[in-house]
Amino acid sequence: MTSHTPAHPTSPRLLAANLVNAVLLEGVSLTASLANLRASHSTHSANDSRDIAAAQNLAYGVLREAGRLRFFLARLTQRPLQPIELTGHLLVGLHELDAELSPAYAAVNETVSVAARRYPFARAFVNAVLRNFQRQRETLVKAVQQNPEALWNFPNWWLRRLQAEYPSDWQQIVGQLNTHPPMILRVNLRQTSRADFCAQLTNARIEYRLPENDPGAAAVILTTPIPVSELPGFAAGLVSVQDLGAQWAAPMLDIHAGMRVLDACAAPGGKTGHLLECAALDVLALDSDANRLRRVRENLERLGLTELPAANIRLLAADAGKPALWWDEMPFDRILLDAPCTASGVVRRHPDGKWLKRAEDMQHLADEQSRLLEALWPLLKSGGKMLYATCSLFQAENSEQISAFLARHADARIEPVNFTSQSKAELISTRMMPTTLIPTEDMDGFFYARLLKT
Ligand SMILES: C[S@@+](CC[C@H](N)C(=O)[O-])C[C@H]1O[C@@H](n2cnc3c(N)ncnc32)[C@H](O)[C@@H]1O
Repeated sequence: MTSHTPAHPTSPRLLAANLVNAVLLEGVSLTASLANLRASHSTHSANDSRDIAAAQNLAYGVLREAGRLRFFLARLTQRPLQPIELTGHLLVGLHELDAELSPAYAAVNETVSVAARRYPFARAFVNAVLRNFQRQRETLVKAVQQNPEALWNFPNWWLRRLQAEYPSDWQQIVGQLNTHPPMILRVNLRQTSRADFCAQLTNARIEYRLPENDPGAAAVILTTPIPVSELPGFAAGLVSVQDLGAQWAAPMLDIHAGMRVLDACAAPGGKTGHLLECAALDVLALDSDANRLRRVRENLERLGLTELPAANIRLLAADAGKPALWWDEMPFDRILLDAPCTASGVVRRHPDGKWLKRAEDMQHLADEQSRLLEALWPLLKSGGKMLYATCSLFQAENSEQISAFLARHADARIEPVNFTSQSKAELISTRMMPTTLIPTEDMDGFFYARLLKT
């Protein structure tokens, strides 16, 4: 952001303050707030687009560091803010000062001026808080060491859980979950080879590297994230954006052409697309959210997968936990249950998730996951396989969920996945069987269990 941008009506600082308030005060996800923001600027100019992108960066930065920034704010104000909406303005200003994103005088002056446009009576207060931060900065930064939530930028309940479940890895995990995630692509091997796509990247002077631990052999990691519109062949479906850990699902499901496959929680269709890129399947893709399901169709169309010879694709908005309402009684060869979860493994992509989820949400989600497992198991053929997946690191949603399921079902057993043995030992936590992918530089946190019906 340039420090001299005047505070015009769509100032990034104002938009960012609104985004931060929506997450921290109203409990609205950043994805939903950003979608609303873009929709309200649907006829936007290039300036608006730049402002929204700058606001997005600021809001992501604040939410990544919200433990630390809220600690500063509490120390600097001592009383509840009046009005509470000053929170967003002050956190954005503190973030700019703390991370030294712009010269300090500009960060202070412009935060004050944007906040005062809305709350003229608060001008002196906002100015005093930010100037006090500058004066007390050294003491405040030292005090962070004594406060785990401020030090690690995670809620305490989350830290306690990770410490208990990953006693030797939790610091590495938290460190990774606080980083900026890489942009990872999945090449559509139906349309091109990875080598040919990489040649196009080279021609376009886009730097990339190939990851290890890539069972689908379709992943490419960009050195610097770029808008998808700048990717060669994106609109023509040569490539998708998908984390490397998510790219493990399709190879793990062990699919072959012609199989009848249920993708039970499919939207926005990242894994549905990958499955169809690997084999011409008879797929039923369900999602309970009809709006999100529309994105599955859009993605499959862009990838050129809706007209695949020998494939059959049906999309249905339905509750996967109520098959009586949609199942035709024909058993499936394969079921992918990419279950709704806390998404605790992907918070570097969605840092608002750290502050939106409560400890009690995890139990509700675990109950929902076991409801879905129970409802879908009878739909699998004998000899068929179900892949249970989450993007969570919490055992209540992962290994504990699967152990309880195995205890309830004598006809279910875990089927080992051979390609894990080719991967780097430290990436695969064998202590947490079946397979927990601990977040690394190249991969978000995921969990997979492949269940065979005997
Ligand atoms: C982790 S996301 C799925 C991501 C998707 N598989 C992909 O790779 O792009 C979980 C999805 O489950 C859907 N969902 C939640 N409860 C559901 C239910 N009872 N039946 C069907 N879908 C459900 C949510 O709407 C959400 O789209």
